[in-house]
Amino acid sequence: MSLKVGNLIYRGKAKDIYETDDPKKVIVKFRDSITAGDGEKKDEIELKGFYNSLISAKLFEVLEDAGVKTQYIKLITPGYMLSKRLKMIPLEIITRNIAAGSLVRRFPFKPGEEFKLPIVQMDYKSDEYKDPMLNDDIAIAFGLVNKEELKFIRKTTLKINEVLLDFLKSKGILLPDFKIEYGYDPDGNIVLGDEISPDTCRYWDIETCDVLDKDLFRKGETGVIKAYKKVASMILDKNDKKKWNVEI
Ligand code: TMP
Ligand code: ASP
Repeated sequence: MSLKVGNLIYRGKAKDIYETDDPKKVIVKFRDSITAGDGEKKDEIELKGFYNSLISAKLFEVLEDAGVKTQYIKLITPGYMLSKRLKMIPLEIITRNIAAGSLVRRFPFKPGEEFKLPIVQMDYKSDEYKDPMLNDDIAIAFGLVNKEELKFIRKTTLKINEVLLDFLKSKGILLPDFKIEYGYDPDGNIVLGDEISPDTCRYWDIETCDVLDKDLFRKGETGVIKAYKKVASMILDKNDKKKWNVEI
């Protein structure tokens, strides 16, 4: 298929953003680059971008169907997503359902402990400052968002958590935690942006408890791409595979 990609606007650690003919739309290219520790550990894993774009597209579609506004327009072809152009807010909004990762390193939670109510946490997205945890007052003092916007972000994030938990559970996947980012769309509305993939979420197989996400890479284990492929094969249905012309 012919794909018209304009100038590169932004190069992130795992994705590139390109202009299109329409100033309100961009093409997001999912790369095979994988990093951890704020970019200190790096590698290239063949097909990672392919699977992450499929997983993100599917989850954005599930969220849009549930009434959550996102930047997603369509997956042009695996690896390339047409999206609304956003002005990103440099906040990493992390939601936690089960204790894992930095939470159990920093606080006396038991690994695997399930929370009665989800925890929503905010980090400042900055490799330079090493993504420090923020609270509402710090985010507002920075001028990153106002109080109303924070309220909207929290409410939307809790809804996203519910939708993703239900959907993934129906596909045999547990969602201990995930990170999302928001931005302003061309009309000034805050919408969900970035990606929702095994790079940015913890996914555990409900049956086997196998880790199916970037923790494998963070911990130097093998089977990273096998895990990403498994997530794609678990969440895509027959119609998705036909629509995106993939066999997984
Ligand atoms: P953490 O337990 O390391 O704080 O990670 C919480 C969640 O956020 C986990 O699902 C992975 C995701 N995450 C990112 O997407 N980017 C990051 O830079 C970090 C540290 C975590
Ligand atoms: N996203 C961060 C990085 O790419 C860290 C992580 O996900 O563990 O360096």
